[in-house]
Amino acid sequence: MRLLGVETSCDETAVAVVEDGRTILSNIVASQVDIHARYGGIVPEVASRQHVITAIPVMEQALAETSCGWQGLDGVAATIGPGLAGSLLIGFNLAKAIALARGLPLVGVNHLEAHIYANWLEVRTEPAFPLICLIVSGGHTDLVLMKGHGQYMLLGKTRDDAAGEAFDKAARVLGLGYPGGPAIEKASQQGNALKRPLPRAWLKGSHDFSFSGLKTALLHLAQNCGPDDVADLAAGFQEAVVDVLVTKTIAAALKHHVKLILLAGGVAANSRLRKVMTQKSPLPVLIPPPKLCTDNAAMVAACGYYRLQAGHQDGWDLEVIPGLKMS
Ligand code: KG4
Ligand code: ZN
Repeated sequence: MRLLGVETSCDETAVAVVEDGRTILSNIVASQVDIHARYGGIVPEVASRQHVITAIPVMEQALAETSCGWQGLDGVAATIGPGLAGSLLIGFNLAKAIALARGLPLVGVNHLEAHIYANWLEVRTEPAFPLICLIVSGGHTDLVLMKGHGQYMLLGKTRDDAAGEAFDKAARVLGLGYPGGPAIEKASQQGNALKRPLPRAWLKGSHDFSFSGLKTALLHLAQNCGPDDVADLAAGFQEAVVDVLVTKTIAAALKHHVKLILLAGGVAANSRLRKVMTQKSPLPVLIPPPKLCTDNAAMVAACGYYRLQAGHQDGWDLEVIPGLKMS
């Protein structure tokens, strides 16, 4: 079964074709990062206008890269939330129009669930349940227990900043530009985390996270440091975030006796997080390749496939839900 996936929840216009939820036939992502970098962050109105310009060319390219063409599609999956309302509307309405015009089933997908399903793409063996997934993106830090397809139990979440948001704010404090995650990672490579140890919020007895204290500590340190200290501060910050994410995820995984730990979301592209999680976990760890951790539409098609397999087909009255939660 071949699904067209469409993703426009934030600042990437993405369309993909995926076979049986696992095999990527095409995966096109048009990034708006250069446009938003000028403003130091995403400007929602600019993002939705850019989606209007790029959505159809990106879709045409995604189809051109497969040999199946329109006739070979069996369904359409699109992100309905969470995300920016104006951005979601562009991709979702395009997907809906295609599904209507071609008489294909339409399935609405939760962006966070889609991030999890990046772990089903291009793998030889499917992830085994029960598993724990740490979703770390620009807007979310969620620890989710999955006992089967579509079965999510939220164990913990951030009480303030999301991990990606913390990276973005830290980069701004250190003058490293936007997007912050890759900038902090790059600067850290020249730094020594031990020179600038930063505090960790463990929130003992809970699976929740907190990064706002760390951000404030970084701000105070940065005010008393010079340009030569930026790499050490970036490394100290990255190490603190990674330490908390890894330690708390492993503790939750052992407590809930799962078989596997998954990572998902843009921050899962961070090489230090990938390395430390893999080294420290006594359980197998699966992490999508960095390109599939950040926003893309192949993960939307993969998630949509498993939803369709479970009998979820949406009606034409389906609309975007910018504040959508995990169900
Ligand atoms: O999942 P994603 O692409 O979009 C959302 O759904 O939010 O995540 C974007 C977030 C941004 O905050 C970005 O700074 C962060 O992921 N990110 C990283 C890295 N690449 C992207 N954070 C740390 N290290 C990276 N290499
Ligand atoms: Zn995302």
